[in-house]
Amino acid sequence: MHMKLIGPFKQIIPMTNLSLKGAIMDNQLEIIQDGGVLIEGNKIQAIDKFANMLAHEKSNATEVQQLSGDHICLPGFIDAHTHICFGGSRANDYAMRNSGKTYLEISKAGGGIWDTVTQTRKATRPELIKGIVKRAKRHLTNGVTTIEVKSGYGLSLEEELKMLYAIQEANTLIALDLIPTCLAAHMFPKDYKGSPAEYLEEIASKLFPRLIKEKLALRVDAFIEEGAFTPELIEPYFNKASELGFDITVHADQFSTGGSKVAVQHNAISADHLEASTDTEIALLAQSNVIAMALPGASIGLGCDFTPARKILDAGGALAIASDHNPGSAPMGYLLTQAAILGTFQKLSNAEVLAGITFRAAAALKLKDRGQLNEGFLADLNIFHTNDYKEVLYNQGNFKPCMVWKNGELVYNKHKH
Ligand code: NIG
Ligand code: FE
Repeated sequence: MHMKLIGPFKQIIPMTNLSLKGAIMDNQLEIIQDGGVLIEGNKIQAIDKFANMLAHEKSNATEVQQLSGDHICLPGFIDAHTHICFGGSRANDYAMRNSGKTYLEISKAGGGIWDTVTQTRKATRPELIKGIVKRAKRHLTNGVTTIEVKSGYGLSLEEELKMLYAIQEANTLIALDLIPTCLAAHMFPKDYKGSPAEYLEEIASKLFPRLIKEKLALRVDAFIEEGAFTPELIEPYFNKASELGFDITVHADQFSTGGSKVAVQHNAISADHLEASTDTEIALLAQSNVIAMALPGASIGLGCDFTPARKILDAGGALAIASDHNPGSAPMGYLLTQAAILGTFQKLSNAEVLAGITFRAAAALKLKDRGQLNEGFLADLNIFHTNDYKEVLYNQGNFKPCMVWKNGELVYNKHKH
């Protein structure tokens, strides 16, 4: 198979041999100096000193991509929580919020998620695909090579399917990987003829089997909150999802607590948001296998507290960090900027922030083939023009990768754009 050798890198930060849970200090980060990455097909074959590899590979038919100047290499970033499939804009909500109205007030007045539902239902599938592709490509130029994408602005069988088909098709049109999640339980659709329990029952009995059959999503999410769904309503819904083999994830403790407990009880892979979590919820999560996912983009978008990331890590929890990119609470959609800012407010080490957007985010999506630079892992490389990896977070996302590789191919080159 075709082999490629890339290097030399002043530093390769492979994010290997670090624990999934708990605090990490920067001096625990492995750093390979003057290294090279050998790629075979879409995978990493080896990482070693570039000079040694070059001498060895000269005899083979390996294609060498020799870099001049100082570069460092990180794993491609993983944005494990987004809503980038949507129609319209919520600039009005943003203006209203900043004029003093709360998220819940705006939602009750017909704005909020329901507004995006209306606009998403009006959009055609090709229009939705175009929006996803545009947003995903922008994430790619910021070093993101895997993006989780939720439905949840359709809120009926047909409209949720439209979104999930759009995500599935968009995935074939771009280099990065989209991981779909069904969020039909985002809120109770106001136009549904029946009760919230009946709505969830219909989704579980009619939509879930189709998701499996057509490989549209293997993950199920629910928003547990006042104005969305209560733990009691979600109980049978998650039970059904688990029985069918779906992985569970939860929008939990965003404004009020309750969701994280549901996440733990249902053995969810992740509990996301957690801005309202208190020491009780933090302890509960830290003692479980649920990954806590901070969404600093929602805190920045709503002007509210950050997830208590420091406390979660110190309690021994696993912390992933995602953008929550959506038209309402998190319109910015710059993962690296948001993760860096969370780091400054929550006093997270470089290692903890980077872990949150690499191997810990991979774990939150149950993806064992990425998030680290190691033999056998996907060759998803994030290359920055610097001699020190610490420059990346220091510049708070304003410093972009100069090259991004996905599945062993160079898919973004800043100098060619
Ligand atoms: O993750 N919290 C609920 N859902 C989204 C917001 C969606 C929206 O406002 O459109 C979130 O923040
Ligand atoms: Fe969200």
